[in-house]
Amino acid sequence: AGRTVVLVPTMGALHEGHRALLREAHRHGDAVVVSIFVNPLQFGPAEDLARYPRTFAADLRVCAEEGASLVFAPTPDVMYGAGAQITVHPGPIGEELEGASRPGHFSGVLTVVAKLFGLFRPDVAVFGEKDYQQLTLIRRMVSDLDLGVRVVGAPTVREPDGLALSSRNRYLSTMERPVAARLSAALRAGAAAGAAGPDAVLAAGAAVLDAEPGIRLDYLTLRAPDLAPPPVSGPARLLVAARVGSTRLIDNVPVSLPEAGRPAAGGPVRG
Ligand code: PAF
Repeated sequence: AGRTVVLVPTMGALHEGHRALLREAHRHGDAVVVSIFVNPLQFGPAEDLARYPRTFAADLRVCAEEGASLVFAPTPDVMYGAGAQITVHPGPIGEELEGASRPGHFSGVLTVVAKLFGLFRPDVAVFGEKDYQQLTLIRRMVSDLDLGVRVVGAPTVREPDGLALSSRNRYLSTMERPVAARLSAALRAGAAAGAAGPDAVLAAGAAVLDAEPGIRLDYLTLRAPDLAPPPVSGPARLLVAARVGSTRLIDNVPVSLPEAGRPAAGGPVRG
């Protein structure tokens, strides 16, 4: 009908972060489609597929309130009916960071996203920056496989203390909740040290994490915006993953390093 279709893929358990994705979607088109599907292909055998929160009735209300034109909520059988054999391989970026501790995860994500793109042929698709490696890989898939979808990244929505909104936050106990907020504090400290260069960014972030015994760090790393090896200048991304109790959390922020050719603040001064 000539309308611009914007797809918002989700796994349900919709929260304020998802509402922000839907609002962003309306800025890019006039028919917003939401998919709600807890995708078994992206969960490892030891992961939380069975206990992943399912709040379908409440999710439908959120979609209605946020003006979705259509909600697609298939069963696993509908998505992966008999005989499906082909999956998407995420390449080297999919093997590291989240991919290193969650083998097969990104293949599962890219496969379901490619299928959703095939089913809806959206003009635009919106994903949260909170899952930054996922967003990067989806952009890469669209570009490498010429899928012709414009991928929009929406900024992370945070609690007042900085904790990034996530469906998994509900697993945190009252004691763990303030500990989890230290992850975003570490990222803020790292980003604030950007003008002093990459080493200072990592040192500032690590200092916050080291001071919190309740955090079991998986990685704190500085990368280029496309997750290529760490840049020495210009825009970069600081990413963290850690366990708080039994809950694995991830977060990331943009960082501005000094422009090439300009000494880092506090760095060597030539007289
Ligand atoms: O970010 C998510 O909720 C999921 O990984 C996605 C993109 C909906 C694919 O299942």
